[in-house]
Amino acid sequence: IKVEGQKEAELTAPPMVPKPVGDRPAMRLVVNMEIKEQEGEMVDGTKYIYWTFGGSVPGSFIRTRVGDEIEFHLKNHPDNKLPHNIDLHAVTGQGGGAASSIVAPGHEKVFNFKVLNPGLYVYHCATAPVGMHIANGMYGLILVEPEGGLPPVDKEFYVMQGDFYTKGSYGEQGIQPFDMNKALKEEPDYVVFNGKVGSIAGDNALTAKVGETVRLYMGNGGPNLLSSFHVIGEIFDKVHIEGGDAINTNVQTTLIPAGGSAIVEFKVDVPGTFILVDHSIFRAFNKGALGMLKVTGEENKKIYSGTTQEGIYLPEGGNIQNMPEGEKVTKSTVAKTLPEQIKSGKAIFGTTCFACHQSEGQGVPNAFPPLAKSDYLNADPKRAIQAVIRGLSGEITVNGKKINSVMPSQNLSDDEIADVLTYVYSSWGNNKTVVTPAMVKAQRK
Ligand code: HEM
Ligand code: CU
Repeated sequence: IKVEGQKEAELTAPPMVPKPVGDRPAMRLVVNMEIKEQEGEMVDGTKYIYWTFGGSVPGSFIRTRVGDEIEFHLKNHPDNKLPHNIDLHAVTGQGGGAASSIVAPGHEKVFNFKVLNPGLYVYHCATAPVGMHIANGMYGLILVEPEGGLPPVDKEFYVMQGDFYTKGSYGEQGIQPFDMNKALKEEPDYVVFNGKVGSIAGDNALTAKVGETVRLYMGNGGPNLLSSFHVIGEIFDKVHIEGGDAINTNVQTTLIPAGGSAIVEFKVDVPGTFILVDHSIFRAFNKGALGMLKVTGEENKKIYSGTTQEGIYLPEGGNIQNMPEGEKVTKSTVAKTLPEQIKSGKAIFGTTCFACHQSEGQGVPNAFPPLAKSDYLNADPKRAIQAVIRGLSGEITVNGKKINSVMPSQNLSDDEIADVLTYVYSSWGNNKTVVTPAMVKAQRK
């Protein structure tokens, strides 16, 4: 396919989508995507630190056509704490772009790809721990239209489902940190459309008029659940199954896999409030997976005689049940053997430290110092313990390289800190210092 001209891609936050490509020729498209870690509201009074592509969850919608050549600029805002990257399912190539795009805070990475296949594709962060980056909101959609574009419709919207895992249960107030254990068990506190409870309900509802054809670009970021997507009171005239070419017609509920999509189209024939749900129905009424499409216009008593009232579902939705709290894990008080400490420390490292210091302790240049063969670490275990208990800031020199950044204090018990540091000291060429809970306790004073 011949490529003509170049422009910057229009990006939109959900539920909006950029203008259709129409019959334009394939071209060079420059995508400028900025990663931002920012606080947002999951539900009234419940805050969450979202990691985002472009400042929204899901991330900015990218619209291209087959044959386009994309120059992708991934920028990691200097205020961010972590390295990130992007894997676009529309990319043919190593890691979907992941390996070429890993970018530290205050840096930018550029890579190029040609879109070969039409369809609706998910993109997501693929930085370790991958599940955590996705669970914090790092996913979005890229649409590749066929030559000549998709057939025009009256209304198009961008909606993406995601599951969230928080320390507190549904609705618990204040900033709620990510809960790795719940994520591993696939037991979310929230299942939502567009990043939060109510993002497309009430005053934020999607809207259409009787007689219009609506097209929903539906995605599912996961990280864990698959969606049984349904609109209460509507039948999908057309579904591009899994976002591909195959079109199913007259569908009630369509499955959207984690890391997958569907394009859903239907004509609205009567007015009313049509409820978008994940038909795994506790998720809809108790965990947030509920949106609204408000349709205005002339009634058609032949098609539907009654009146659809807004609010029928709300009393139930408003009456959120609190999920029972999990049993508190009791910490062992029995002294561990060295192999036990290393095993436990490895698990803690894999959930807590490796987001920044990376899986082999290699760190990220200019952002996170290495723990592998770290002279700073090996010189003074007390100082290392202090760093984990209280965090660390200000200029330090690790293996001859200066770094002046901030490590947050880690909320771990004496046992956990002893184990994780013993693991770190026993790995990657470090000096095999054994850190005991008593040594940690001494540094707390
Ligand atoms: C520095 C350990 C978690 C970011 C350090 C140092 C140690 C350490 C020993 C001293 C320098 C060195 O030896 O390289 C740990 C352990 C962790 C953990 C055991 C988990 C329990 C994290 C996390 C982050 C982080 C989650 C990022 C959010 C940093 C930064 C520095 C640092 C930025 C340099 C601070 C400065 O410039 O003053 N860490 N760390 N660490 N860590 Fe961590
Ligand atoms: Cu990320």
